[in-house]
Amino acid sequence: MKIGNLLLANNVCLAPMAGITDLVFRTMARNFGCELCFTEMVSANGLIRNAKKTYRYLESSDADRPLGVQIFGADPGILAEAVRIVTEGGADSIDINMGCPVTKVLKTGSGGALMKDPLRVARIVREVRKATHLPLTIKIRAGWKRHGINAIDIAVIAEECGADAVIIHPRTVEQGFSGFADWDLIAGVKKRVVVPVIGNGDVRGPQDAKRMLDSTGCDGVMIGRAALGNPWIFGQTVTYLKKAGPIQAPTLCEREQVLRNHLMMNVQHYGSGVGLKTFRKHMLWYTKGLRGGSHFRQKLTKIHGSAELIEAVHHYFTSLETQEDQEM
Ligand SMILES: Cc1cc2nc3c(=O)[nH]c(=O)nc-3n(C[C@H](O)[C@H](O)[C@H](O)COP(=O)(O)O)c2cc1C
Repeated sequence: MKIGNLLLANNVCLAPMAGITDLVFRTMARNFGCELCFTEMVSANGLIRNAKKTYRYLESSDADRPLGVQIFGADPGILAEAVRIVTEGGADSIDINMGCPVTKVLKTGSGGALMKDPLRVARIVREVRKATHLPLTIKIRAGWKRHGINAIDIAVIAEECGADAVIIHPRTVEQGFSGFADWDLIAGVKKRVVVPVIGNGDVRGPQDAKRMLDSTGCDGVMIGRAALGNPWIFGQTVTYLKKAGPIQAPTLCEREQVLRNHLMMNVQHYGSGVGLKTFRKHMLWYTKGLRGGSHFRQKLTKIHGSAELIEAVHHYFTSLETQEDQEM
């Protein structure tokens, strides 16, 4: 897949997810073969005001490539200024968020609110296009609400104004994350624009990715929630799409190693306190569905040091392996 002048080694991408897709998470995804990763949405206003917290979202590394930086905002001029900053900062591509359904974001006219304002979309894409030579994408929803599906119109406008690709998560903004992503709409957008279309929504495994590509004709797939506690999904999907072998599920031993590696990277990146605190959600995702997982997680609430946590994780996985051996 090629977006603007950015040639990608494969067409499986990591979705931007606020509070999740930081440098550490992206590194994990890349270790398993994910090519294009996105930052979480970064406030254009925050960038311009030089807010320290906003800049933390841009932390990256040499290995964290190619990196798409996602910006949100409503004012074309401010967005363009923010995109200039991010371009100079070394991003590989720029994405404008046009789908976030969170009230705080909608109130500012940003995110999903843009789906209601095609004229503003045109102004934004034109201004941002002038501000950067980098590949420019927009990430859109199906529309604002069920009786106002306009993703195709928005995609066509964005293409005319200079966007290099369209990423679509075909739920309406009103829908949030309920119901299903309407993949037919991905096909609809693909038919109407020449630039690449990346489909997103409800890809839970390699077979879903293939089904989305085959049934919609889209050029790439973007995976979000299914990657939580499951970075293997990228390797599995890339291999499956290349018809390069069967889908390999991780063994318990691999799960433990990956979890531990992720935890250590998190602690190294954020320091022990924040590193452990922000890892709790990942711990839940990594152990979800495993035998005794919820009991194990309850015990973790009493643990406050990383060495102790690694020890507890090892103990838990060893007990799972022993049980597995006994059952064989
Ligand atoms: C916790 C969470 C945070 C998200 N944050 C963002 C974000 O910052 N920017 C964005 O465009 N989409 C965001 N999304 C939406 C995802 O990028 C994606 O469009 C959505 O989850 C559907 O894909 P999936 O079914 O593969 O998860 C977020 C989703 C989740 C679950």
